[in-house]
Amino acid sequence: MPGTAAEGDRDPTPDAARDRVLVLGATGTLGRQLVAEFVGRGFPVRALARPGTPLPEECRAADEIIRGEITRPESLAHAFQDVGTVVSALGLTRQRDGLGPWDVDYWGNRYALDLAVARGVRRFAYVHVLKADKLAGVPLVEAKSAFVRDLQASPLTATVVCPSGFFSDAEQILAMARRGRVPLVGSGRAKVSFVDVRDLAPVIADAVADGIPWIDVGGPETLTTRQVALMAFDAMGLRPRLLSLPVWLVRAVVAGVGWVAPPSVSGPLRFFARVSSTDMDAPPHGHRRLGDHFKAVVAAEAEAGTGTEAKATGARA
Ligand SMILES: NC(=O)c1ccc[n+]([C@@H]2O[C@H](COP(=O)([O-])OP(=O)(O)OC[C@H]3O[C@@H](n4cnc5c(N)ncnc54)[C@H](OP(=O)(O)O)[C@@H]3O)[C@@H](O)[C@H]2O)c1
Repeated sequence: MPGTAAEGDRDPTPDAARDRVLVLGATGTLGRQLVAEFVGRGFPVRALARPGTPLPEECRAADEIIRGEITRPESLAHAFQDVGTVVSALGLTRQRDGLGPWDVDYWGNRYALDLAVARGVRRFAYVHVLKADKLAGVPLVEAKSAFVRDLQASPLTATVVCPSGFFSDAEQILAMARRGRVPLVGSGRAKVSFVDVRDLAPVIADAVADGIPWIDVGGPETLTTRQVALMAFDAMGLRPRLLSLPVWLVRAVVAGVGWVAPPSVSGPLRFFARVSSTDMDAPPHGHRRLGDHFKAVVAAEAEAGTGTEAKATGARA
């Protein structure tokens, strides 16, 4: 539920001269842009990165890099020392290490919140998902929503950011088009407002500065899933081949998979099925357009001679 912090309860605007910002999930697609954004605004930035994860270029601009696993919080108390604002883009978008969404999206962030409270942090911004209330029953969303409830009940000034899908995730549609066919759930009329993380990061920094308790964020254009699929084929100069799957069939298959496949497979499938049949449109922000991004990805792959399905950074356009 959107929060309702009263005007008078809000913490004063962060002061760039003294307020250290701790970015969790700093090596991720969004996290690295958040590091760049807060550094660009003059804040001292501390970035938390897992041991062994290569540091993206943007993270090198941070004043301090702290290595550690948030799922083992006992070693990380010092990371929260002298921090004014925690910004968490920590989350499990690719299943690995045998951890699930409750381990990372709930407990990882919950440990961070407890450490933040104990160390006197004043503000905590968290990247949730858009329209979580319409995605009930999806384990990832349930874990994130449970953390949001804890955050809103905490004494910290909370900012909950609910973005639509990132351009980097939309690249999966390019990959499907390259394989020959893009499936649509239903007739493909569900709306989506994909956003570039370079447009999202400044919105988050502004929301933190203004003490906004809850913000839904989309990119500058709202498209149907069918339009997105057509854009992917267009970017590659291929004739569109769409496969419309009835919503009831997709739901039945996903429910069946839940009985036979591990949560690491059934969870993302359930998420995909639900977001593909739910309107995921949000108030527009930024100026970067998905069609331009698709074309830039295809051009970069052609130049590199790859044409691979590798996940791009979402920062090429
Ligand atoms: N992608 C989307 O379309 C989308 C849309 C709406 C909301 N969101 C939310 O936005 C947030 C950021 O998404 P993103 O696409 O930037 O994700 P991402 O690229 O996968 O980044 C996630 C970050 O979390 C870290 N992380 C994952 N598991 C961890 C663990 N066990 N311990 C410590 N750190 C761990 C990753 O570290 P490593 O680099 O070491 O793996 C990475 O820094 C997530 O909460 C996601 O749910 C994403």
